[in-house]
Amino acid sequence: MKRLAGADKFQNLTTSGSLRRSKNFSSNDVRAKKFLIKWNKSETVKNNQVKKILIIGGGYVGLVSAVCWAKVGHKVFLLEIDPARLKALQAGTAPFFEPQLDALLSAHLQKNLFVTIDVSAAMQELPDFVFLCVGTPANPDGSADLSYVWQAVFDFCKHVKKSCILICKSTLPVGTTAKIDNFIQIFLADKKLKIKIKVVFMPEFLSQGQAIKNFFEPDRIVVGLKCQKKLSMLKKLHAPLLKKHAKFFSMNFASAELVKYTSNAMLALRISFINQIANYAEKVNGNIEQISQAVGADPRIGSQFLSAGLGFGGSCFPKDLAALVHGAAELKISVSIAEAALKGNVEQRQIFLQKILTRFKDLTGKKIGFLGLAFKVGTDDLRESPALWLVQELASCGAQILVFDPQCKKKIKNLLHAQTFQELLQQDFLVIASNFDFLHQIQPQSFLQLKDACIFDGRNCFKETFFDGLKIEYYSVGRF
Ligand code: UDX
Repeated sequence: MKRLAGADKFQNLTTSGSLRRSKNFSSNDVRAKKFLIKWNKSETVKNNQVKKILIIGGGYVGLVSAVCWAKVGHKVFLLEIDPARLKALQAGTAPFFEPQLDALLSAHLQKNLFVTIDVSAAMQELPDFVFLCVGTPANPDGSADLSYVWQAVFDFCKHVKKSCILICKSTLPVGTTAKIDNFIQIFLADKKLKIKIKVVFMPEFLSQGQAIKNFFEPDRIVVGLKCQKKLSMLKKLHAPLLKKHAKFFSMNFASAELVKYTSNAMLALRISFINQIANYAEKVNGNIEQISQAVGADPRIGSQFLSAGLGFGGSCFPKDLAALVHGAAELKISVSIAEAALKGNVEQRQIFLQKILTRFKDLTGKKIGFLGLAFKVGTDDLRESPALWLVQELASCGAQILVFDPQCKKKIKNLLHAQTFQELLQQDFLVIASNFDFLHQIQPQSFLQLKDACIFDGRNCFKETFFDGLKIEYYSVGRF
């Protein structure tokens, strides 16, 4: 947990004052760019294979899908009803950060990618495939708010003029795709419309920061559908993405809906479990990094998502776990393991805060340098961010906080933002909530500039021996 060592020599002092930009963003961007150049060489669709695709919702999944389908060569229409977001998109700017997203948006905008607020105009284009990508935020009771979904389905029904496949990408509670399908079939029958709408559910597994690569090289494509008839059309559409090793699974609606919840829950509960083991290890002089590596070397377990730290955040894990718990409870089914993962996740950040409060009994007037605000490094997404929670708690204890997270600067204005990481080292102590690449270029001696020579590392960024020989107190997670 803590290392306090001898000699306070200032040697090889190379601070990061010039590191104005986070390397994580630039290196992710370079990786994404290289990936796209490579992908360029492979075949995009031929003229006679070009389909018309309508994407409803210009959020994370919708916008990434829109630019990527445009890159594949299809003609894409993106429907966005939020005027501010629409304006940004029409100007060729993504409303959030994702490597290469802006580049793809400007490359295809007004060529084979068109953004509109007008659902009727979009449906006039007679799309072959309509992707439903609207948000399903959490209600206060944990259930998913489906108002955007139903509004979009209703608008779609009102304006649809040609047979097509409606692909639901929004994360839907189990049973919802069947209800959407029922609604649409009844609507068509009522209106005596002689067109066929096939509804399918295709869960989305994009991970922020790697979304473009995830789109073009998915591990798996999952389709939930009522009858297998339209499967070949979906396979054909996804063929350019299936060239590598991706597996294609088809199943019924409910199974596909459960695949999404189970995938996110499985990952989240690994994190909560390793965090609890980390807390145990800390008490008995164990080392969670060594434990994770050894445990993860078992191929039945695997090594990913075993990094202990502040816990998980983001737009998916907390929301989807809560929706899973809520949906199961309605059917009187226990998913207590998922509940425990959520509870453990909240406890984890509290335990970390307690570590700081145990060391500094009174934070009044303490100057804290705080690194990382987003829910994970490589994004600017603040949703459910454990870092943001921690900043708020520390501030409420009277601390003065100086934050460094360049991508989040514009998003959260009521905090004091540093221009450089170097400024954080001029504070009393440092809290690290994100593992930025640039941290690994900094010499350990640089941290001696902190007035209290004390670091709380919520992401285990440094080896436990990194500060050996220096009078630095180093507190991390799950290590003595
Ligand atoms: C996740 C899923 O990975 C993705 O498949 C799904 O489509 C959406 O939700 P994302 O939210 O982008 O993606 O983030 P992810 O990389 O999975 O990380 C989620 C949270 O877990 C972050 O706060 C991250 O810091 C934390 N995490 C991750 C850990 O604490 N330890 C780990 O070992 C891995």
